[in-house]
Amino acid sequence: MAQLKRRWWKEGVVYQIYPRSFQDTSGNGIGDLKGITERLDYIKSLGVDIIWLCPVYESPNDDNGYDISDYRKIMAEFGTMDDFDDLLAQMKVRGLKLVMDLVANHTSDEHFWFQESRKSRDNKYRDYYHWWPAEKGIPPKRWSYFDVDANAWKYDEQTDSYYLHYFSVKQPDLKWENRAVRKEVYDMLRFWFDKGVDGFRMDVIPFISKDTTYPELPKEFKGDFIPFYSNGPRLHEFLNEMNNEVLSKYDIMTVGEALGVTIDQALNFVDEDRKELNMFFHFDLMSLDRDGNEAFWMRSDRWKLTEFKEIHSKWDAVFSEKGWGTMYLNNHDFPRAVSRWGNDSKEHWRNSATMLQTFLLTMRGTPFFYFGEEIGMTNANFERLDDYKDINTLNRYKLLQQQNIDLEDFIENEKKASRDNARTPMQWSLDTHAGFTNNTPWIKVNSNYKTGINVEEQEKQSDSVLNYFRKMVKIRKSHLGLIYGGYQLVLPENEQVYAYTRSLDTERYLILLSFSEESTQVAIDDIEFSKADLLISNDECQTEKTNHQFTLKPYQAVVYQLH
Ligand code: GLC
Repeated sequence: MAQLKRRWWKEGVVYQIYPRSFQDTSGNGIGDLKGITERLDYIKSLGVDIIWLCPVYESPNDDNGYDISDYRKIMAEFGTMDDFDDLLAQMKVRGLKLVMDLVANHTSDEHFWFQESRKSRDNKYRDYYHWWPAEKGIPPKRWSYFDVDANAWKYDEQTDSYYLHYFSVKQPDLKWENRAVRKEVYDMLRFWFDKGVDGFRMDVIPFISKDTTYPELPKEFKGDFIPFYSNGPRLHEFLNEMNNEVLSKYDIMTVGEALGVTIDQALNFVDEDRKELNMFFHFDLMSLDRDGNEAFWMRSDRWKLTEFKEIHSKWDAVFSEKGWGTMYLNNHDFPRAVSRWGNDSKEHWRNSATMLQTFLLTMRGTPFFYFGEEIGMTNANFERLDDYKDINTLNRYKLLQQQNIDLEDFIENEKKASRDNARTPMQWSLDTHAGFTNNTPWIKVNSNYKTGINVEEQEKQSDSVLNYFRKMVKIRKSHLGLIYGGYQLVLPENEQVYAYTRSLDTERYLILLSFSEESTQVAIDDIEFSKADLLISNDECQTEKTNHQFTLKPYQAVVYQLH
C-alpha cells in the first residue's frame, strides 16, 4: 500500500450543483444558496464527499454566471456573502468539501476592469484584455462560441478597436500575458481559499494563453479552432506559476476543464512533478456522439460500445503511473447521462441509470455526478424554441436563421444535444414544480417528476435508483481496490457488454455492464462465477449461471469480488 499516492480528492465522490436549478427558497423561481444549505443533509446521505458548485459570483447572467462581473461578490439572485459563509460552515460541520468554479479565461463585459479597459487606449486597465486597434485593419479570424456571427473579435467604437471574446460578446477574454492580471486572479483565489474553500474546477483553463501577435490561424486549424486555443505558448508557464504562488500553499484540489487537450498532452497538466493541476476533464467521450468538429451537432449514426470502451481504456492507461483522471458522463454543458449513454424508455430507465452509476463508481479516476443523476433525471427534450434559455441554443438559432438552414432540424438536434437538457430543476417531490419553487421556475421542470423521477418517492423504495446509488457509493468507498486498483479490459470486441477487472495487491474485482436492450450471455474463461462474491447487482442474477458463463438482463450491472 505504501506506494499508493493516497489523496482525499482521489478517494472522494463529487456532486456537482448547478445552483440556479437546485432549490429555490426565496420564491423568485431561481435556486439559491440557502436552498443548497437546506439540502445538505440529503447530499450527505448520498455518501458523496465533495460539492462542486457552478459559479455563484455576481454576474449579469449572459451565460448563467460564467460571465462574472465581480469575483468577490455573490450573485444577488442566489443570496448574500453571509449565505455563502453559512453554507460553507454547514458543509464543514458535515465533513463535506467545497470546490468552486474558477472562470478566469474571461470576465463579464460589466466587470469593472473591462468597463475601465474600454474607456481609452491609455487606461490603467487597457492591457487587462486583448485589443486590436482598427487602424491595423480587420484582425485575423478567430471563431467564437455563442456569438451570433461566430466571430470572436468585436468592434468597440469608443476606442476604435476590436476586443477578443472566445465566448459571447459579453465575455471578453482576460490577457494573462499581463502579469497584473495573473496577480489579480491569484489574489482572488487566496480570498476564497482563506475562507476555507477546498478547491477549484477551472473553466476552459487551457485557453488562457494566447499568441498576442494574433497571427493568421495556421492552416491545420482551419475548421477546428479548439486545439489551437487550448495550446497557447505560455499555458504551462501560467499553470505552474499559479501552482507555485497559490495552489501549493493549501490542501486543495484542482480540476481543469480541458477542452481540446489530447491524450499525448495529458501528463503535461497533471504529472505531479510538474506542479500544475491535480486532474482534468477530457472531452473524448463528450464528442463521441457528435458530428466531427461540430461540438453541438449529433452524429447521424449511433456510437458503438467498442468506441466507448476504447476511450476509457486509453485514458485509464495514460494515468496508470502518474497523474490522476476523472470520470463523468454529464454536467451542466451536456445532456443527461441516462438519456445519452443509457436508455430513458420506461422499460430500461431504471437499469440503465443504475448501470451507468456502477460504471462511474468502479473505474479508476475521481467520479463526478451531476445533481439529479442519483435519481436518474432525464433530458427535457424541449420542442419549442421558447422553452430554451441557453445562450448557446438561442444564438446558434439566430446564426442559422441568417444562413437559411432548416430550423426544424436544429430543434430536433437541440432536443438531444442542448445544454438545457441538464439544466431543468431538481426533482424533489410530487409537489408543484417538483418542490423546486413555489413560483414560476426560470426554466421548465421536466414533467416526469410525476412518474417516479423524484427524491421523495425514491426515498421510500429500497430498489430505487437513488437507493442503489447510495449502496454503490458505499461499495466504492469501502474497497480501496475499486479506487486505486489497476484496470483491465475483458471482452474488448463485445458490443453489448462492457467487462473489466480492477485489481490491487490481492484484491480483485470483475465488473459486467450490459449496454443492451436484450439479455446477453458472456463467457469468461478464467473467471469462476461460483467462487466469486457478488458485491452488488442492479437486477436479479439469473440462476443458470455456470462456472464461466453469465447471462445479463438488459442493462444489468454486476460487481463481483474474485478470489
Ligand atoms: C465552460 C462552461 C460553460 C461556459 C463556458 C464559458 O465550457 O462549462 O458552461 O458556457 O465555459 O465560460
